[in-house]
Formats: sequence, C-alpha cells, structure tokens
Amino acid sequence: MTRISTGVEGLDKMLNGGLIPGRTYLVRGGPGSGKTILSMQFLIAGAKAGENCIYITLEEPMDEIKEDMESLGIDLDAIENIYTFDASPSGDSLFADSFFKNLELDIPGFKAALEEKVRELKPSRIVVDPVTILELVSRSEAEYRRDMISLLSLFRTHKTTTLLTSEKMSVSSEDYLVSGIIEYVEYEMRGKVLRGIKIKKMRGTKFDDSIRPYRITSKGIKVFSEESLFE
Ligand SMILES: Nc1ncnc2c1ncn2[C@@H]1O[C@H](COP(=O)(O)OP(=O)(O)OP(=O)(O)O)[C@@H](O)[C@H]1O
Ligand SMILES: [Mg+2]
Repeated sequence: MTRISTGVEGLDKMLNGGLIPGRTYLVRGGPGSGKTILSMQFLIAGAKAGENCIYITLEEPMDEIKEDMESLGIDLDAIENIYTFDASPSGDSLFADSFFKNLELDIPGFKAALEEKVRELKPSRIVVDPVTILELVSRSEAEYRRDMISLLSLFRTHKTTTLLTSEKMSVSSEDYLVSGIIEYVEYEMRGKVLRGIKIKKMRGTKFDDSIRPYRITSKGIKVFSEESLFE
C-alpha cells in the first residue's frame, strides 16, 4: 500500500512507513506539545513533492504562526505550494467572514468556504489547526457529530490526506470518525517532564504501539523511534 510521509522520519517509522493517503487523522496534544510544528512538517513534505497544501488556523493568528515557524528556519511565505488561511478570531480572510460572522460561529459556512478553496486549489494535504474550537461552538454533541461527519465527507470526496489537531485529551466523538490518532503525552517523574508520542489508533495498518520519546529542536520535531520513554 502507498504511504505518505508525515514529515517526521521517526514518526513514519512508527507508522510502518507513513500515513495511508486520502484519509483523515487526528493529532492530539496539550499546549506547546508540537501540534502546529508537526502540521507544518507534514505540509512541507507535500509541498516538496510538488503537491498543493492547505493550512487553516482556527485559533492562533497566522502572522504569529509565521513568526513561530521562522524560529525553525521555515519561511512559510517562500513555500509556493502551501496556501495558508487565517480563520482565527482575529483573522480577516474569507474564512473569518463566514466563520466568525457576528461572533456566531458557523461550521456549515466554514465548510462551504473550505470547499470553494479545495475545488480551486485541488490540494492533496489539508491541516485544520485546531478543530477543538468547532466542538466548543456546537450547540449539542449531536450537532457537532453531524457537522464533523459532513466535514470529513468533504475531505473524502476530494481524496485529501488531512490532519486535524485537537487540544482535547479525553475521548470524544471525532475519535471514532477519523482513521487514526497520533497523540502527544507528557509525564512528570521525579521533577522531570518526559515527553512522548504514541499512536493511539491507525486503521488499515500495523503500527508501533509503544510510547516513543520526541524532542523539538530548531530543526523541528524529532521522534526517537528506537528508544523507550521510560529508560
Ligand atoms: N526553535 C525552537 N527550538 C526549540 N524548540 C522550539 C523552537 N520553536 C518552538 N519550539 C517548541 O515548540 C513548542 C511549540 O510547538 P507548537 O506550536 O507546535 O505547539 P502546539 O501543540 O501547536 O501548541 P498550542 O496548543 O499552543 O498551539 C514550544 O513550546 C517550544 O518548546
Ligand atoms: Mg498550535
């Protein structure tokens, strides 16, 4: 089966070669765990292969994300195939108009705006960072689930490989809807913080189910796929 790179070598190893294309995955983790950086490494891998990629921020303003990436030597404006959209509360794009209209969030409007971009750009990779906010604005669990299913069907129709980041650590309805879950975990031991990454679920493939250590350096995320977190 074809695999595509996450942009992080050690994580590709854990995934038995990479992600199965055309599916949607969740990247879950606490604040500062590396969700946005992983998202960018994933999109850069696509851009390098000449694919169009879409990145949508729903929380952190795009100009701040660009600054954050500069510290990793990544100049997002210089990467032609990555199209960034600011749907954060302070954003001023087409997404913001439809999404934060009168401060009333509207997932169907967000989906419509996204669909227009997907038809235009025909991306192979999409990141929505983070999706957590979509749940917060839903009136009920049932409404959220319905909207999420509809959003996932858009990705499926257009055969995009999609990462949705999530800040929520407990199990929620999207866990069952996505094809796989990559999770950042953190433990405190004798005053030290141990950071690890684990694959919680991955349909259609075998995978490494151990927790592996990772580090964020000025070159991005490095996963130590041969090492154990607790040694
Ligand atoms: N140049 C760098 N060198 C080392 N570490 C860095 C560098 N740039 C960022 N980091 C680390 O990366 C972390 C932020 O990563 P990232 O923005 O991907 O996290 P996140 O999970 O998206 O966080 P949030 O939930 O706040 O959006 C910072 O906490 C910092 O420790
Ligand atoms: Mg982030």
